[in-house]
Amino acid sequence: MCGTELVRRAFQDALGGEPELIARAPGRVNLIGEHTDYNQGFVLPVAIDRAVWVALRRREDQRAKLYSANFSQDAEFMVDAPQKDPSRPWADYPKGVVSELRSIGYEVVGFDMAIWGNVPVGAGLSSSAAIEVAVAFGLSSLFDIPLERTEMALLCQRAENMFVGVQCGIMDQFIASLGRKGHALFLDCRDLSYRHVPLWERASVVVCNSGVKRELASSAYNERRAQCEEALRRLRKIIPGIEALRDVSPEEFEAHKHLLLEPVRRRARHVVYENERVLRSVELLEAGDLEGFGRLMYESHRSLKGDYEVSGPELDILVELASSVEGTLGARLTGAGFGGCTVNLVEQDALGDFEKFVRREYEARTGIPLEVYVCEVVEGANISPRNSL
Ligand code: GLA
Repeated sequence: MCGTELVRRAFQDALGGEPELIARAPGRVNLIGEHTDYNQGFVLPVAIDRAVWVALRRREDQRAKLYSANFSQDAEFMVDAPQKDPSRPWADYPKGVVSELRSIGYEVVGFDMAIWGNVPVGAGLSSSAAIEVAVAFGLSSLFDIPLERTEMALLCQRAENMFVGVQCGIMDQFIASLGRKGHALFLDCRDLSYRHVPLWERASVVVCNSGVKRELASSAYNERRAQCEEALRRLRKIIPGIEALRDVSPEEFEAHKHLLLEPVRRRARHVVYENERVLRSVELLEAGDLEGFGRLMYESHRSLKGDYEVSGPELDILVELASSVEGTLGARLTGAGFGGCTVNLVEQDALGDFEKFVRREYEARTGIPLEVYVCEVVEGANISPRNSL
């Protein structure tokens, strides 16, 4: 059964009657450009065929009644006073979106909403951005709120920063809003200009879920951000006019790195060279050089492991195993790290061997069952037209 149908049934069972509309927003996997977004740098994510769906209907009062089909839980709040509730963390995302919409003056009144998704939670595939963006799209359509896709992404990022309390960058919400089928999204996180880069059919994007849950809210992510700011503060004294690590070239970094103490120096080195890798990746992909792009994926992983220190034994094993399969062009951890998933670029005719070998060896070495998703690269958020329900 498809997501639209599942969420519609959940709505009927939990809330009664029919929804007025259904909105969908996808999860994402980042091909390259990790921990660069909050340094005003470059990223290259794709939207994948796992998503969150929300079914919505207006109410006559100021109440929001929610039901999560994944957690079999309901939640209720007044739209003018959403409060966080630790017993229902999934409801914080819709609450955050409502709170942001209202804070910029949009008239959001009561509504019923059912939610269902198949983006694994806590796996680094951005289930949180998917739920935020699906809710923002759904509510905008329900209440005729004229928000552009870019504004919607920014609003959802604010919901996550301010209400949920996670200091994420813009990448996840942006790709969930603006992804394009068969394309990666090359985004400049400084001015939010972007370009869709076509992918090549001879290779697939394959995600391996290590089964190790990561906690994005955990201090490690915020600590990395603080270390980047520290690097910037010091480099600013010597390189005039820089506003973010994105402005530091590899040559400048090499000339001034002695000003930085460890581990801040390594953190900055990752960011500076990762930005370069994204720019080269786009050129290589546009030229059809998948092998060259794959090599940059491996380099990115080495840097995330050694310099940024956000990998872990399971992710390293997954990359190592993937690299020993003929037909794997590149592999690296994706998302924040500290567990979660790897992203692999695998030639079509090697997919069977890849899955068999990596699964068998990973399970033998770690004792953790491996989930492998051969992803289709899909469109960003959309609304199912009312008359199709
Ligand atoms: C998480 C954040 C993103 C980004 C990545 C790391 O997914 O939500 O904004 O910082 O980590 O690249």
